[in-house]
Amino acid sequence: MKNIAKSSKGLILLTGAAGFIGSHTIVELIEDGFDVLGVDNFYNSSPDALEGINKIVEQSSAPNKGCFFFEEVDCTDYNKFDEIVEKYRSKSAENSDYRGIVGAIHFAACKAVNESLEKPLLYYRNNIESLLNLITIMRKRSNNPNIVFSSSCTVYGQPADEDLPIKENSPLQMPLTPYGKTKQMAEYILQDCCNAYSNLKVCALRYFNPIGAHPSALIGELPRGVPQNLVPFITQTAAGIRECLSVFGDDYNTPDGSCIRDYIWVVDLAKAHVAALNKMIENKLDKWEVFNIGTGKGTSVLELVNTFIRITGVELKYRIAPRREGDIEQVWADASKAERELEWKADTPLEDILLSAWKWQQRLGNVNES
Ligand code: UD1
Repeated sequence: MKNIAKSSKGLILLTGAAGFIGSHTIVELIEDGFDVLGVDNFYNSSPDALEGINKIVEQSSAPNKGCFFFEEVDCTDYNKFDEIVEKYRSKSAENSDYRGIVGAIHFAACKAVNESLEKPLLYYRNNIESLLNLITIMRKRSNNPNIVFSSSCTVYGQPADEDLPIKENSPLQMPLTPYGKTKQMAEYILQDCCNAYSNLKVCALRYFNPIGAHPSALIGELPRGVPQNLVPFITQTAAGIRECLSVFGDDYNTPDGSCIRDYIWVVDLAKAHVAALNKMIENKLDKWEVFNIGTGKGTSVLELVNTFIRITGVELKYRIAPRREGDIEQVWADASKAERELEWKADTPLEDILLSAWKWQQRLGNVNES
């Protein structure tokens, strides 16, 4: 094992390290001076992402870069997960000046909405058990059990018109899918644990729609099979892998009839995690906190498609298709709490975000063909 850097701000345990958001967050943490122990079982990700992370970090000119460590582990395997964390904890304890494990970010979860309807047990077991293990291990192995949890705007369901843009204290609705339910249950579990365990602190980040890729195009989103999400489907269609994009519905009660979402650049989202951890470590947040992580701006599917066509100049075949079952008509964030308390804001223009997604797709070539 490499030596854990003396000057660093401490070690962050990060689950789901090779995933879309996990990989981008590791880069931002390391550039901010944290060491990172990433774990992943590659169930829905590829080891290629680790190579991408290492290249970006190597090329980065950030002055106090931390170190990146990686271990292949399934977070539902308690004994193996604990053994790995203990290995790094004891290694870091050899240096008495080192701050040890100062926080965890929990990304490891299954996230395909439709798959969750077909395989509810997989979703409940994987998403809930891995969280229970992480909380237990952090309490046991860290003097600073600060946990950032990756939650979702899916917990709000379809907000009433007067609740848009949606605030953190708006009423939650029971999500329709096992995937969404695991996110909501996880929030309740974490909240109960915060009430029960004195030193545990949790920050749940409710993501809106993360899209795009790192500007280097060395890491990005890698969907398996036919993409379910809008932007990977657009870029694959533009690349000639898919024939035609279906726009699901143009008869919604929105200005152009298509659904509205809050699309946030994955790099801005990654930085929100760093901001949250820094504030938790500085004791600036309450024990249990929830933040909307979005741009505060709603964009319709048709606006997004037309922006992509305009900025890339690529021909993109699309047609209007029937509504997709379970889709929410419109939701976007009031992200002012995060701006106020985390001193974080997502303001990258949609044009730049879509260009990053297109650059990533071009680098991938046809690897998604299936
Ligand atoms: C869904 C989940 C969200 C999850 C996210 C990432 C819900 C309500 N939302 O978001 O929790 O974090 O996936 O996995 O469960 N669209 C098309 N054509 C396509 C694909 C999508 O028109 O081929 C439209 C959809 O109808 C929707 C918009 O694009 O209006 C965004 O869809 P998508 O990218 O799948 O994200 P969400 O459904 O918003």
